[in-house]
Amino acid sequence: MARILVTGGAGYIGSHTCVELLNAGYEVIVFDNLSNSSEESLRRVQILTGESLVFIKGDIRNQHELNQVFDDYQIDAVIHFAGLKAVGESQQIPLTYFDHNITGSIQLIKAMEKAGVFKLVFSSSATVYGEHNPSPYNEEMPLSMPNNNYGYTKLIVEQLLQKLSQADQRWSIGLLRYFNPVGAHKSGQIGEDPQGIPNNLMPYVTQVAVGRREKLSIFGHDYPTKDGTCERDFIHVVDLAKAHVFAVINRLKQTGCRAWNIGTGMPISVLQIKETFEKVNCVAIPTTFVERRAGDLAAFYADATRAEQELGWKPQYSLEDMLADSWNWQKQNPNGYN
Ligand code: NAD
Ligand code: UFG
Repeated sequence: MARILVTGGAGYIGSHTCVELLNAGYEVIVFDNLSNSSEESLRRVQILTGESLVFIKGDIRNQHELNQVFDDYQIDAVIHFAGLKAVGESQQIPLTYFDHNITGSIQLIKAMEKAGVFKLVFSSSATVYGEHNPSPYNEEMPLSMPNNNYGYTKLIVEQLLQKLSQADQRWSIGLLRYFNPVGAHKSGQIGEDPQGIPNNLMPYVTQVAVGRREKLSIFGHDYPTKDGTCERDFIHVVDLAKAHVFAVINRLKQTGCRAWNIGTGMPISVLQIKETFEKVNCVAIPTTFVERRAGDLAAFYADATRAEQELGWKPQYSLEDMLADSWNWQKQNPNGYN
C-alpha cells in the first residue's frame, strides 16, 4: 500500500485524515511543528486504529528538514494541511501567514520535486471563490480575491499549483476546497482543540456548553437569509477526512490539477446551529445577538456534485451527527488535549 506524507497531520483535520488513511491500509508519516496541535492527537489516532504511524517534528519552511524526510522515506503522495488558519490573525500579522502558508508550501513543493514525488492533495478553502460568486459555488466559477490575508494565501497557493502542473506534466495535484468543517470522531477521542478564544462558531458553541465561556455571541441577525443570521455549509470532519482518501486514490492514477468542493450543499444558519445543538444534546447555549463581524458573507454553500462524480465521495453524516459528535468530544475533553 502507498505511503503518504501528511503535513500538519497532528491538527484537527489532519488527525481525522490519519485515522481514515490508516483504516484504509496506507502507511502514514506525519510532519508537523506542533505550533497549533499536540502529539497526544497522534497517540490517540494510533490507539483508535490499532495501527502505528511515524511522527516527525519539523517545520515546512525548513528545506533541510523536509529534504531529510524524503531522503529517509520513500513517499508516494503528500497531503498538505500544515499552515495557519485564523482569519482575524492573518490581518494582524500578514507576513507570518505568507511565510507559513505560501513559503512553506513552496518549500514543500521543492522538496517533493527534488525527491521525484509529484502527487499532492492540498487543503484549500471555499474562501477562494471570493465575495461575488453566487451560491452554490461550483468549481467552474472564476476565483476572486478573498477579503482577508488567510484566504489570499489559499488563492495564491492554488494558482501556483495550477501553473506548476501546466508547466510540468509529472505533477498530479488535487485542490480540496473545504466549506465549514465541524464534528469529531465518533469515539470522542480526537477533535478540534483551538488555542485561546475560538474564532470559529462550533468550538465556541461547545466551549459555552461545557462552561468554559459564558455565552455565544451571534454576529449579526439582519442578513438577507431565512432567519437573519449567516448561513454556511457545515461538513462533518470525518466526511472531509474520507474525501482526502478518495482524492489520494484519484491522484495516484491521474495527472494534472483538479479542484473539488467538499461540502454538503446544505445552507445551515448560525441560529439553526445553536438551536439544533441544544435539541440534539439537551444542553442550553446562552446566546446574545451582537453586531456583524467584519468580512463575513451572508451565505455560501457548495455544489459538491463534481466530487461525487469524479471521486465517488459523498457526505454520510447529518447535521445532528455533526453536533452530537462535536459535543461528545468536548464533553469528554473539556480542556481539549491538555
Ligand atoms: P490545525 O491548526 O488544527 O492544523 C494545522 C496543523 O499544521 C497544526 O497541527 C499545526 O501545528 C501545523 N503547522 C502549522 N504551521 C506549520 C509549519 N510551518 N510547519 C509544520 N506544521 C505546521 O488546522 P485544521 O483546521 O486542521 O486545518 C488544516 C488545513 O485545512 C489548513 O491548511 C487550513 O488552512 C485548511 N482549512 C481549514 C478550515 C477549517 O475551518 N478548519 C477550512 C478551510 C481550510
Ligand atoms: N459566528 C458567530 N459567533 C462566533 C463565531 C462565528 O456568530 O462566535 C458566525 C460567523 O459570523 C459566521 C459563522 O458563524 O457567520 C461561521 O463562522 P466561522 O468563523 O466558524 O467560519 P467562517 O465561515 O467565517 O470561516 C470559514 C473557515 C475559514 C474560511 C472561511 C471562508 O473557518 O477557514 O470559512 O471560506 F476562510
